[in-house]
Amino acid sequence: MNKIEISSIASEKEIQNRQKLLELMQKTPLPQNELVSNAALFLKRQELQKLLFFNDIYQKILDVHGVIVEFGTRWGQNLVTLSNLRGIYEPYNYNRKIIGFDTFEGFKNVSAFDGHDEKTKDGAFSVSNGYEEYLKELMAAHENESPLNHIKKHEIIKGDASLELKKYLEQNPQTMVAFAYFDFDIYKPTRDCLEMLLTHVTKGSIIGFDELNDPKFPGETIALNEILSLRNVAVKRSRFSGMQSYLIVE
Ligand SMILES: C[S@@+](CC[C@H](N)C(=O)[O-])C[C@H]1O[C@@H](n2cnc3c(N)ncnc32)[C@H](O)[C@@H]1O
Repeated sequence: MNKIEISSIASEKEIQNRQKLLELMQKTPLPQNELVSNAALFLKRQELQKLLFFNDIYQKILDVHGVIVEFGTRWGQNLVTLSNLRGIYEPYNYNRKIIGFDTFEGFKNVSAFDGHDEKTKDGAFSVSNGYEEYLKELMAAHENESPLNHIKKHEIIKGDASLELKKYLEQNPQTMVAFAYFDFDIYKPTRDCLEMLLTHVTKGSIIGFDELNDPKFPGETIALNEILSLRNVAVKRSRFSGMQSYLIVE
């Protein structure tokens, strides 16, 4: 039986309970053809709150023109959520492309600003080999559940985002970003991408963060402070959790 990945703030009881949920998932009596439509059986409160956070943010960007970008997609669950929210709220907005950046090989360019946790090192949070190809198929399959699916509205970009975003913006100088979500956890790519984004957001664009004020990953806050200065921005917290936050560009 696989051990599940546990965040370091989980209690022993929570760890055991998550192990139990994993066991229940692995020995599910559901028939294969009912698995996908019953996936919420295994959706815990902690994952549901993230869906609610994105639902909240999505409604705030409905009148903001531009694309959605996630920095640090990993397995891609946020990209899928955002794609499905697009299908619900604005199925005919073919301009609302969703773009995900990740090395798909884990952290890249961990620096002295990223704290002392022994797990914070290059290569942490890597995914299975070739996962990006699976994610592209998954995104296409979800997009197919919504109208205008003959227009591809997602892009998965593999590599060091500090370099890849630069390339993307050079090739796509028209890019306007309505919502950017930072989930690299670490300083260097967050700082680089935040800086590049500044000339591609408009008043009303939203920039979201997964690790601000997080003692385990100080680099994200340091990057924001250096690029925008904490004193000059109003950072709102997610009403659904203790971690996600966002600011609205003024
Ligand atoms: C915490 S994970 C993201 C989790 C994901 N957003 C989710 O909610 O499941 C951080 C991700 O940032 C990526 N990452 C870190 N440094 C990077 C870099 N320089 N360029 C691109 N991706 C990077 C890692 O590969 C990893 O997948």
